[in-house]
Amino acid sequence: KPLPFLIYKDEDTDENLRLKYRYLDLRRERMQHNMVLRHKVIKFMRDYLDEKGFIEVETPILFKTTPEGARDYLVPSRVHPGCFYALPQSPQQLKQLLMVAGVERYFQIARCFRDEDQRGDRQPEFTQLDLEMSFVNRDDVLELVEGLFTEMIPAVAPHKKLLSTPWPVLSYSEAVDRYGTDKPDLRFGMELANVSDIFSASGFMVFQNTLKSGGVIKCIVVPGCAEYTRKEVDQLTEFAKEQGAKGLATLALTAEGVKGTAQKFITPDEVEALKSRTGAKEGDLILFVADSKAVANKTLGALRLLFRDRLQLADKDTMAFAWIVDFPMFEWNEEDKKWDAAHHPFTMPKLDDLDKFDTDPASILSDAYDMVCNGYEMASGSIRIHRRDIQMKIFQLLGLKDEDIRIKFGHMLEAFEYGAPPHGGMAPGIDRLVMLLADEPNIREVIAFPKNQAARDLMADAPSPAAAKQLEELHIRVEMPKE
Ligand code: AMO
Ligand code: AMP
Repeated sequence: KPLPFLIYKDEDTDENLRLKYRYLDLRRERMQHNMVLRHKVIKFMRDYLDEKGFIEVETPILFKTTPEGARDYLVPSRVHPGCFYALPQSPQQLKQLLMVAGVERYFQIARCFRDEDQRGDRQPEFTQLDLEMSFVNRDDVLELVEGLFTEMIPAVAPHKKLLSTPWPVLSYSEAVDRYGTDKPDLRFGMELANVSDIFSASGFMVFQNTLKSGGVIKCIVVPGCAEYTRKEVDQLTEFAKEQGAKGLATLALTAEGVKGTAQKFITPDEVEALKSRTGAKEGDLILFVADSKAVANKTLGALRLLFRDRLQLADKDTMAFAWIVDFPMFEWNEEDKKWDAAHHPFTMPKLDDLDKFDTDPASILSDAYDMVCNGYEMASGSIRIHRRDIQMKIFQLLGLKDEDIRIKFGHMLEAFEYGAPPHGGMAPGIDRLVMLLADEPNIREVIAFPKNQAARDLMADAPSPAAAKQLEELHIRVEMPKE
């Protein structure tokens, strides 16, 4: 039949059309390349880990809730009316149980299922290189994974440059402080500077009031943008407000002197102090946010990425990997007024912090770590809890009732009572990795049959209504939403 689009020409065919005829779309050279690259990545991982004494074990897809912070996909049981399996959000519990089973080094190319809002770097089902090791500490896990990636990238994508080996290790608080995010893009500088002390006696009301109420003044220096027009600055201010800031103060270091919204409130001494603190020079534009630490970091972190793209500050063939460590153990959930696990509830808190459980949960750090690259979170992992008493303490702090704990996690707690080795591991996301290696803008381009942004498979038209007979067998009655 005549083709719905030209395979070797129409580069910008509408994505929904491409997804409807995915088997034709996959004929394109670019897609063939991506599939081969993905195959090479997975083969390299399997060979490398096999060589290091890991074995691949398959874990069930029909299981029970394995929470990673998303909603579960449920599968109704025909033979047990009213009961459901949950598809695993990751094999987390199962791999820990394999450690109890004496499998010292496990991995799996594992499919994970998460019902969450779709984005360019997220799919409802995706693939992890899931791994776990017994009798290890954090650095053993980091060393293994760093070794794997450092050998794999030149082998599968020789045009990619690794920025530095060994990879830098940043604490969570240092990353957020310097880059405004826990997944920094380290391919370029433009770090956030805290300049609160420089403005401790500022005549600028906005700055003064912020400091009085316990906030901070932070800034970034945008190279070569001192001549921005009023309109361009207004657009940046709008962008800052979308991030949650109350405003954006600017200072342009032009050949004719300093200009900008903050100019009339800033003294020559303060300008000099700013220059020596930040390295700003003539031709640069300084952007300030005065607010709570969290808002200042988020806003300036987002502006930093905006200028990365606008000024092309990051080389696309460089892969700047880094480890982020020492995460907070808990996050306060304002909506439900309770503590949530920042990673997952099986993560080991720092043992020195155990006595802060009753006094100051916010300050407890965990033995969790992330691998980041070019502004993406590529992998997460942690040393796990292998003691029943600590695990119970965590569940209780997360607000789980004893009955809930028994129903959801009884099998884990019981397993810990038969002798569980200390263990830890992590899980790099394979889709995100291949996306970066293939220079693709989103992970759909590196998945053979992805869902679209609305979580639909347009080729097979899934999800779709089930036949009445099927529903009856499953003891399910559907009630459509009112609107
Ligand atoms: P986490 O939930 O951080 O950790 O996931 C690990 C990695 O999986 C990838 N990833 C995704 N990729 C595509 N689409 C998604 N919806 C998606 N969600 C996550 C990311 C992420 O860094 N069990 C723990 C790991 C562990 O502790 O060992 C876990 O799943 O690259
Ligand atoms: P205003 O006093 O609100 O008219 O603000 C004066 C200038 O300071 C404007 O350019 C605002 O965008 C900027 N501004 C206001 N609030 C903040 C803030 N919290 N941080 C940085 N700049 C701000």
